[in-house]
Formats: sequence, structure tokens, C-alpha cells
Amino acid sequence: MFRSIRFVPLTIRLFAGRIARFRVWRIDNVRRKLVVGNWKMYGRLARNQELLQGVLAGVRELRGADYAVCVPYPYLAQAQSLLQGSNVAWGAQNLSPNEEGAFTGAVAPGMLTDFGCKFVIIGHSERRGLFHESNEVASAKFDAAQKAGMTPIFCVGETLAERESDITEQVVATQLDAVLDRAGVQALSNAVIAYEPVWAIGTGKTASPEQAQAVHAFIRRRVGGHDPEVAEKLCILYGGSVKAANAEALFGMADIDGGLIGGASLVAEEFVAICRAAQK
Ligand code: PGA
Repeated sequence: MFRSIRFVPLTIRLFAGRIARFRVWRIDNVRRKLVVGNWKMYGRLARNQELLQGVLAGVRELRGADYAVCVPYPYLAQAQSLLQGSNVAWGAQNLSPNEEGAFTGAVAPGMLTDFGCKFVIIGHSERRGLFHESNEVASAKFDAAQKAGMTPIFCVGETLAERESDITEQVVATQLDAVLDRAGVQALSNAVIAYEPVWAIGTGKTASPEQAQAVHAFIRRRVGGHDPEVAEKLCILYGGSVKAANAEALFGMADIDGGLIGGASLVAEEFVAICRAAQK
């Protein structure tokens, strides 16, 4: 967890109305950890209810981090009714960049906020790969999500071929720059970045904590080149085969602020254990 050390005033009341003033070092956690489940296209009403109740029971007492689940559209109402008032937020996995119109099959940002969505995942590699979403489309969706009052979780990450060609940073920079160029660096003060190496998604292959940390630090440096304060506060999640068994090691790295969890978010005990690892 990232910490900043500040010199702050401290006032203590003594007896007989006397006051003593000191200056002390205070250690602040600048970033709170966040764990987000990405259910992808999984779920059924009955199964979701069991899963969400299990998650709620497991994280109810956890106060040291933030939690959310991004569910398929038809289950937003169910998530809203089961999760409202709890410490688990909810969101969607995609949206249209348009406010409304003749876009058969698309879902507008305002429709998501009607159901209380706090987050929306943007530019997931499955959207980019299977649905041919370009950086341009992803950044337009980022913008639309923010304009509607949601926090976009913007995914970046390289394929195996790109990693092996040693162009990971170049790929991630291009994806990130699409948002920086369109929305400006200040937009990242209400956004989350998820670094998800494509080769680690759903494959059981996780980036090592050091491999992930290196890219997270690169992302923070790149944003820092535009605005150091925004960069320092930016929440950067890691995603790609995060499980209870590897979460603690990943979350222990300086620039990893939590996780975007696919498969393991469908099993309550696994997801809760990952949420617990974010507390440490
Ligand atoms: P995974 O998926 O945890 O199943 O690898 C992560 C994601 O795609 O967000």
C-alpha cells in the first residue's frame, strides 16, 4: 500500500485550559485498495443470489478496502436490490458511448445509472479482441461513463506476442494515451485503471508480482508525466488469474492497488478471501 509521510500540527489540551502544540510525522495511506469482480457472461438469478449473499456475509465486517461486482446487464436490478446499503458497490461491464438513439442491442450510460451503477468496465481485452473495440471507441466510452457520473475501470494490457516482442510498455502507453488525449489527465482523478495482461486472463497464468508491479509503476510514471498528484492518487488494479492464493503477494506490491477478478469472483469464498487479502 502506498503511503505518504507528512509533517502535521497536533494540539493537545492540558490541565487548567493550557494547550500544547506539536508537529508530528503522520503516515497517510493515499490510496485505498479496491477489489472488483468481473462476472463476464456468467450468472443466473438463483446462483447470483447465493453468490451475492455469500459475498455480503464475508465482507460485511471488512472496512479497510472497497469492493464491487460488475454483473451482466439483466442482473443489475438484482445486484441493486441485494447490495444497496452494503459495503459492496456494483456496476456493468460495458456501455454505449451514445446517450440514446437507434442502436439496437446497446445500453446507454443513463440506463446504468438508473440502476445505481457506480462502476463500468471499459476496454476489457475481450471487448477489444472479440468485439473489435478500438482505442478510440474505448476512450469515447470512458468519456460517456464519466459524463453519466460513473467511475470507469479502464483496462489496458498486452498480448503474449507483444510481451515477447518486448513492446508491453508501448502497447500500454498507446491504450492509456487514448484516454489522456481525449479526456485529459484530470479525468483520471475519477477513474480506475486495470492492468490486465491478455496472456494472464482466464489462463491460470498470473503475471508475477514483480512483472505486474513493473507495468503498474510504468503506468503511474506515465500519468505522473502529466500530473504527479493525479498519478499518486490513481487506483491501478491488476487483473489476470488473481486467486486467493496469489492475491496477497500481488496486492503487497507498491503500485498494485487491488484487483479485477474474473473466474474467482464467481465463487463466494474465493472472492471473499481476495477481498480479505486487500485489507492487509
Ligand atoms: P480472470 O479474468 O481473473 O478470470 O483471469 C480477469 C478479467 O478478465 O477481468
